[in-house]
Amino acid sequence: MDYEPDILGLACNWCGYAGADQAGMNKLQYPANIKLMRVMCLGRIDTTLVLEAFRKKFDGVMLVGCHIGDCHYVSGNKNAVLVVERLKSILSILGVEPQRLRIEEVSGGEGPKFAVVTKEFTAELKELGPSPLRQV
Ligand code: FES
Repeated sequence: MDYEPDILGLACNWCGYAGADQAGMNKLQYPANIKLMRVMCLGRIDTTLVLEAFRKKFDGVMLVGCHIGDCHYVSGNKNAVLVVERLKSILSILGVEPQRLRIEEVSGGEGPKFAVVTKEFTAELKELGPSPLRQV
């Protein structure tokens, strides 16, 4: 089966999204599997949003935001790390591999890193196959 995972990328406005933008401007290849949604800060992400993404369509979710210490809202990314840890436990209970959820620190000048982490994540999800939570 030629399986292509659907990935939701939640990227903060100031770093993650800018990093993705830089990758695009520099014509760096990254998989079209990732659909980016811009949020002001990763601190805006809550468990309901991510679980709903898994339930509705996505095989994996990646949060992409500022490096720790660089969040434009001081501690939004630190809070997001805690939310991701909590969500990984919930996903395990639901029978979903926790590695389907990932958080990455990507600054606005790290387009190459954005391309690398999206390629890695896509390859990992291809190995895992479709999410068991995904509605057909
Ligand atoms: Fe980027 Fe908070 S503004 S993670």
